[in-house]
Amino acid sequence: MSKGTAEILQFDGLRSSLCLELRHDALLVPYWGERLPVSTGDRIARLRARTPAVGTPSVEPPITLAPTIASGFAGSPAIELHRAGLGWDFHPSRSAVLERTDSRLHVSFVDPVTDVELTMTLHWYAACDLLKVRHSLKNLNANGLTVNSCCAATLPLPGDCTWLTSFSGRWAGEFQRTTHVLPIGSFVRENLRGRTSHASFPGLLAHLPNTTEHNGAAYGVHLGWSGNHRLLAERLNDGRVLMQAGERLMPGEIMLGRDEAYTTPWLFASFSPDGFTPLSQNFHRFVRNELLKPAVREKPRPVHYNTWEALYFNHDIARLKALADKAASVGADRFVLDDGWFHGRRHDAAGLGDWHVDSDVYPDGLAPLIDHVNALGMEFGLWVEPEMVNPDSDLFRRHPDWVLSAGTVEQIPSRNQLVLDLGRRDVCDYLLGRLDQLLSENNIQYLKWDMNRDVHHPGSMGRPSARRQTRAVYGLISALREKHPHVEIESCSSGGARTDFGILEYTDRIWTSDSNDALDRQDIQRGMSFFFPSNVMGAHIGPRTCHITRRTHSMALRAATAFFGHMGMEMDLAELTPEEEKALVSAVALHKSHRTLLHEGRLVRLETADCAIAFGVLDGNSTEALFSYCQVATRNETSPEVLKLHGLDHETMYRLTIVWPLSDAEIDMKPLRKLDGDAFTGAELMAIGLQLPPMKPETALIIHLKASSAAEAAAR
Ligand code: GLA
Repeated sequence: MSKGTAEILQFDGLRSSLCLELRHDALLVPYWGERLPVSTGDRIARLRARTPAVGTPSVEPPITLAPTIASGFAGSPAIELHRAGLGWDFHPSRSAVLERTDSRLHVSFVDPVTDVELTMTLHWYAACDLLKVRHSLKNLNANGLTVNSCCAATLPLPGDCTWLTSFSGRWAGEFQRTTHVLPIGSFVRENLRGRTSHASFPGLLAHLPNTTEHNGAAYGVHLGWSGNHRLLAERLNDGRVLMQAGERLMPGEIMLGRDEAYTTPWLFASFSPDGFTPLSQNFHRFVRNELLKPAVREKPRPVHYNTWEALYFNHDIARLKALADKAASVGADRFVLDDGWFHGRRHDAAGLGDWHVDSDVYPDGLAPLIDHVNALGMEFGLWVEPEMVNPDSDLFRRHPDWVLSAGTVEQIPSRNQLVLDLGRRDVCDYLLGRLDQLLSENNIQYLKWDMNRDVHHPGSMGRPSARRQTRAVYGLISALREKHPHVEIESCSSGGARTDFGILEYTDRIWTSDSNDALDRQDIQRGMSFFFPSNVMGAHIGPRTCHITRRTHSMALRAATAFFGHMGMEMDLAELTPEEEKALVSAVALHKSHRTLLHEGRLVRLETADCAIAFGVLDGNSTEALFSYCQVATRNETSPEVLKLHGLDHETMYRLTIVWPLSDAEIDMKPLRKLDGDAFTGAELMAIGLQLPPMKPETALIIHLKASSAAEAAAR
């Protein structure tokens, strides 16, 4: 493209449009927001033409998709590189379109002075109102090129989108939200933990001060990467606002020889003019339609039984078989044997790395247990943590040099384990060999792939290796999947520390959090739901008294909470009272009877008083829905609130059924049960709402709505 010319391209979705301006030296986003009915062409430039303000340069350096220092841009540059101190002034001057369709743009920009090529790849998913974008930098000459940073994209936002919602957390407390105003300057969140991390989820929302679940502009970005990252939102003093995300590179991590390239992770970006709920629906649709493998998408999600909180390391075949009997009898479809089955693993200080079955505990291998589980009609799943090694293991004794390190610096201890250097071929070959053998010799249909520590010393043979390690994890899982395409894999990392779209390209489910405390889970799951749909959200009914918080919860609350995710149980089933068992059996059966709706439906989060968390799931045509209301804390007012539903069709008559709880033991459901079987219009349920019964903290109810047939409606 020649100097001075520009071309406007427009991607339209269902509710949003993204306009791109292709110049000879850059790609810009002159508009990203509410859907425009027709292509705007050059009208956009006329409407948005800016005259320089007093005290500013006569030409305003634009916010491009990759603003550089050399362009004169004074905000956060997207790319920083040099050749031993020279060639820092990368600024392309030639562009060429490599591919261009209604939904794709692949364009290259060359700077013949610094001899660097930048390519941008954009995929637009109209049905999801979602952009997937990444950049690639290539060194075109023989001198080494050091890349300090290269963002996956920089996206401009309207000047009034100055509120941010970010996601942080801790072990057993993932997806905590913070909403704050962006002052002039930057909000930066960096993650150097070598995994997606509990501390910083790589996703950010930008919105208006008054954006709610169902009103107002909301922009969301998410970096699909399971390693170090950097998220930035910046408000310039000229009033412009931008968001940027990319990998957080270590010093010297990217040094490119001739024709070598660095490619960023994908950035996923979406806009909703109608608040946070539709924005989440866009991300959910993308995960379900584009990321999940068809075989997983099409199969009903099996209800899990996981052994961890029942047994920890005390494996015993007779007990496991008894647990399996009970798990099958309450409705589990898949039995997952957690940590503790392999050589020397009697506690968390030994065994990692020695991936063969412990013959002291399992003298005949896993086959007798697997056969027992299969005979009960359940699939068998197994826990592994391949990236780690305990110093007390045969593997470490044989190969003490196989771990990541920072030279001679003493290792930071964490859960008694060190991180294997997956950048090494021999390490990956060993791990692939062990895992392949396990899967080949046993009827294992599921792996829970864990990763239980931050990577504090991401060095390999003196060189920084954080990126290489993350890519090697992806490579190892891919290689295993190729050999065993029918095995489903769960991404776990001390709970939810590896939750991102990057890992979801290789895995099928996410272990949301180690906290099975239903109260904490209500909030964690709500946080995760901003980006992730229910069918990848592992949610288990935990023990009566939570092992982490020591809080005691009824089966009614625990079941109502796990019900809306990829449901499972994780407790000693021998502790069940007859009443608890009855409730558990009913909850599992209820979940199974609504599994399609729960796992394919549209999520709507409801606005409630602070003491509650409420949401619903509706099918595509809004003919059926389930709504959940959980009172998480004591209410300030004496009387309960009126719950206004959302997402229903205004004119449709819905028959209302109270499906949970089963009994009135915790909540006096009598007033509500009077409505059981009655029908109301969607408009009534949304505008007038439903008077809730008085509820104590830590109780929950679930309502089912089904469009009544025309004949039924007429008869009323
Ligand atoms: C991590 C996981 C748990 C469990 C343990 C086993 O903490 O998140 O679910 O598998 O490891 O050691």
